[in-house]
Parts: sequence; structure tokens; C-alpha cells
Amino acid sequence: MSVNLRESWWIGEVEVPTRVVLAPMAGVSVQAFRRQGRRYGAGLVCSEMVSCAGIEHGNERTLGYLRVASDEHPLAIQIFGSDPKAMAEAARMVESAGADLVDMNFGCPVRKVTKTGAGACLLQDADLACRITEAVASAVSVPVSVKMRRGVEDGSRACLEVGPRLVEAGVGLIPAGGGSTAMTRRAAERVPDGAQGDLFPFFRAALETIAMARVSGSAEEARALGILGPADLVTADADRQFGDARETARHLADVGYRPPTDGSIRVVGRRGIAAAEALTYNQLLAHQVSEHDRKVVLELARVMSGGDVAEGTLLSESYLLDLEREAFLRLLGERLTRERIRYTLKTGKPLRN
Ligand SMILES: Cc1cc2nc3c(=O)[nH]c(=O)nc-3n(C[C@H](O)[C@H](O)[C@H](O)COP(=O)(O)O)c2cc1C
Repeated sequence: MSVNLRESWWIGEVEVPTRVVLAPMAGVSVQAFRRQGRRYGAGLVCSEMVSCAGIEHGNERTLGYLRVASDEHPLAIQIFGSDPKAMAEAARMVESAGADLVDMNFGCPVRKVTKTGAGACLLQDADLACRITEAVASAVSVPVSVKMRRGVEDGSRACLEVGPRLVEAGVGLIPAGGGSTAMTRRAAERVPDGAQGDLFPFFRAALETIAMARVSGSAEEARALGILGPADLVTADADRQFGDARETARHLADVGYRPPTDGSIRVVGRRGIAAAEALTYNQLLAHQVSEHDRKVVLELARVMSGGDVAEGTLLSESYLLDLEREAFLRLLGERLTRERIRYTLKTGKPLRN
């Protein structure tokens, strides 16, 4: 696979003219260095890490790091710190100084930085990392990025905990990046007799996995839950997962792989919606779920059933993806969902409302 380094790409609204990015380096990435970087082909340059405490206290030297020249755009200014409020304020200052992007340092392992709770040690505190990210992202209108490493210690896998912590149903949403659709397709693929077999039990199991925010603890469990399909590869050695995934992606690119064009997915239709309505109604009467839990599950059931269609209907993937997006936006418009998201980001725990 070859990449054209001269091709432009986008980070949000910011066009980066080449694929070469100049890494941030403390004591090195001063303005003169960045300007030379841009002049000699870097598409994006980044300041050295700037302390948000220094910005907060108006430290003259720190504020000097925020000077931006007209010929260095696009430019990211990197900030570090451990207090969400101070980081948000620093991000605002960085944006008004003229930076095109705000980058946050969650990767520096140097003691001077980690002893203040900033840099790489944020990877060991996923709650705080999420709170800082939320505070910074909502303080500015430019794109926000995070530079991280695997963790503080060699061989650490702390970085893997920050990402998958928020399971959608736990915060009043449904998977809308293709997840509900993928689980619907996998449920249909699991029916032993193919098109003749009864899809309903597999639909119900997939619905429950998402609705109860179940997370697998191993590849075997993921297979049993229908999250992984029989053809999905499993790497037993955790340290090789990234490498194996990269090799597989490279191989697929080399052999010219293209995702299958819009195949048809068999759905349970109205039967699925009716079953979910009856089940959640009984759960509501027995105080096992709240009104809002019920609403979330019914939105999910509508997507995974394919909507108001007959059992056995074949639907295209793009149709299900549309249903998924519509349901997601409806739930995002719900006050109770937004309260759940806010609470979980703040405390790391689910809110039952
Ligand atoms: C002198 C020096 C200073 C650095 N300062 C920073 C920094 O301020 N922020 C940051 O995110 N990374 C910093 N780094 C890490 C680099 O951006 C880069 O991730 C690292 O050097 C790995 O890339 P390499 O293998 O090309 O050296 C620094 C690295 C060096 C060598």
C-alpha cells in the first residue's frame, strides 16, 4: 500500500495540505522551527507542550508560546494539565491566539509533568481524561485532538481503557456508527438454517446484548454474544493485537479489498417491535426498568426489527443505517439521555432516571 505524502487531508474543517506532521518537541518546536517545517513540506506543525497552569497564571514566558505567525498555519498548539476548568480556559486562549487546532498532551512520561497528574498518567485515570476532553471540546470551536501513548509503563495497555468505557445504552443512546446494523446482520447470519430458520431468538439475543450494555470479557465470550462472527480473527497474545490488525488491514489493501456493496439483511419486522413492547411493558410494571429505559430499548428494537415491515423482509444496509441515525438523534434530543451522558462523564457511573 502506498500513501501519497503530498495529498491533502482534513481534520474537521481544517485542511492539512500534506500528510507530513511535525511532532511537538519541548525546547525545539519554537516558532522559527515550525515556520521552517511548513516551508519545507510539513502539512501541519505543532507547538511544544504549553502548561495550562502557566497560561492561567499569566506567566510571561508561557504566554510567549502562544505567539502565532501568519506563515505557519495550519498550526496546532498543544496544552497539558490535569484540571478540566483550567484546560478549558487554556484552550480558549489558544483558540483566540489563532491556533487552528487544540492538541492535548496525554502522552508525556516525564516526571515533572506526570507528578502534577498531567501527561501520560491521565491514561490511568479514564474518568479525568474524559472530563478534560469534554471541557476542552465544549470550550472551543476548533477541532480538538489528543496525543497519547500506551501508558506510563513499558508494555502498558492503559490507553485501551479510555476509549471503550462508555457503552451507548448505558447513557441512554443506541450504537449509531453502524453498530446496531452490524448486530442485526450478525443475528441474521447466526440462524443455523439460513433463510428458512427462525430469526426471532437471534434477534432477541442481539437486542438484549445491546440493551443491557453487555461487554464481553474475552474473544470466546464475544463470539457467544454474537459480537464477533465465526470468520473474525482472534489474536491470543494481547501485545500483538495492534500489529496483527495493521497486518490484516495492509493485506486487505494489497489485494484490493472493497467492502461488500449494500447486501440485504433479513429482519423480524413488526414481530420484533411488538415483542419488545410487551417485554418492556412487563418490566416497567415490575419496576425493573424506568420509562426512559423503555424508550431507549424500543428505539433500538425499531431499528433492529427494520421498522414497520413484515417478518422476513430483506432490507438494505443503508436503510438500516438511516433508521439507526434517526433513532440516535431522537434520543439525543431527550433531556433524560443528556442528563445520563453528563452524569456518566462526570462520575464514570450510569444514571438510572
Ligand atoms: C526533545 C523532545 C521533546 C518532546 N516534546 C514533546 C512535547 O512537548 N509534546 C509531545 O506530545 N511529545 C513530545 N515529544 C515526543 C515526540 O513528539 C514524538 O512523539 C516522539 O519523539 C516519537 O517520535 P520519534 O520516534 O520520531 O522520535 C518530544 C520528543 C523529544 C525527542
